[in-house]
Amino acid sequence: MNVPLSDAAPLACQIRAARNSDADALADLLVSSFHRQEGLAGLLYPFWRMALREDIRNRLRRQSLHYCCLVAVVQPPKAAATSASDSPDIVGTVEMSLRPQFTLPMQYWFRSFPYLSNLAVMSTYRRHGIASRMITVCETTAKQWGYQDLYLHVLENNEVACALYQRLGFSICRTEFNPLTMILGQPRQILLHKALVP
Ligand SMILES: CC(C)(COP(=O)(O)OP(=O)(O)OC[C@H]1O[C@@H](n2cnc3c(N)ncnc32)[C@H](O)[C@@H]1OP(=O)(O)O)[C@@H](O)C(=O)NCCC(=O)NCCS
Repeated sequence: MNVPLSDAAPLACQIRAARNSDADALADLLVSSFHRQEGLAGLLYPFWRMALREDIRNRLRRQSLHYCCLVAVVQPPKAAATSASDSPDIVGTVEMSLRPQFTLPMQYWFRSFPYLSNLAVMSTYRRHGIASRMITVCETTAKQWGYQDLYLHVLENNEVACALYQRLGFSICRTEFNPLTMILGQPRQILLHKALVP
């Protein structure tokens, strides 16, 4: 269910670990946040959704020690809730796992760092601090894992996400060099870093 949020409505949002049963809702959220439904690209939409769902299912099933997938859930407004479907809606998600950073200087190649991916908030629930809250939970988790650094990639033309990360204290670590994206005129990926206060 995707209920538009009234400006007056207080946003009571809970952040919890994702469950296997969330895979379908997560695939819907991610595919609508990262892929276009219109035009020719829309033909691939069902394929992306299916691929994302299988990926998420596999990651959730593996239950790795250093992997977390968070979801933000809200209770739909009373008026919109029906007796058949009044369970909380998943309106945001983010994943964090350990990854080597081959783009860092060579002395770091054999170390892994907490890395954020697949951050998305349902369009009708954006700008209510949900992404910020999920990232804060990831920062706490990364520290509990014993790390003091957090990394992520963002596309240089994703101004909204860049504003969010800047506000949360991430800074540019480096811009990735990829000859293919240069030739195709696509946006470059920027590696961002945040030093976590112990
Ligand atoms: C990027 C995204 C996750 C942000 O989620 P969100 O819950 O709306 O973010 P927040 O409400 O926590 O925003 C916190 C801050 O980020 C910045 N920000 C967020 N949305 C913004 C916008 N549309 N324009 C300008 N700044 C924005 C602001 O500084 C904001 O603080 P403020 O509202 O007090 O001004 C969401 O827009 C989204 O899902 N986008 C599509 C998927 C995506 O691009 N993911 C990131 C991949 S790297």
